[in-house]
Amino acid sequence: MKIQESVESILVGSVDIGIALGTAIVVAESMGLGTVPIGAVRNAPTELAEVLELPQNTFPIVGLCIGYIKGDKNPVKPKIPLDGYMLYDKYDSVTIEKNIHKYDKIMEKYFANRTELVATEKKIGVGQ
Ligand SMILES: Cc1cc2nc3c(=O)[nH]c(=O)nc-3n(C[C@H](O)[C@H](O)[C@H](O)COP(=O)(O)O)c2cc1C
Repeated sequence: MKIQESVESILVGSVDIGIALGTAIVVAESMGLGTVPIGAVRNAPTELAEVLELPQNTFPIVGLCIGYIKGDKNPVKPKIPLDGYMLYDKYDSVTIEKNIHKYDKIMEKYFANRTELVATEKKIGVGQ
């Protein structure tokens, strides 16, 4: 089997990319820069591979925008609490489901508020 056709190689590569992505974010932000990971690069992997002139049999997994923040830094998006994904000794779908449901409610409020903020900023022309 060719290496690029193996699920194992894609898994290993993706894990490594996740580690590199997280590290790059921590380093960039520690230097006062802003970052936005872009998973959407996978929406058009072939086209992007062409634009980036990637070697044969490779494709983009994730992008990372790094730049100077204009204005105030956005508030950090609420994170799923530890008890929403951390388990001891064995999987417990009841606890996970309950805590994810709690997080969904938090995110609903967050997005409603953020959309309101974006709408207000558009009205007063912030960032134009
Ligand atoms: C793996 C990954 C992929 C992401 N892909 C996109 C994306 O395609 N487009 C986008 O606007 N934001 C993307 N984001 C950014 C998130 O939407 C969100 O803005 C960010 O994780 C929140 O950052 P914060 O923790 O500083 O609040 C992605 C984030 C991660 C971790």
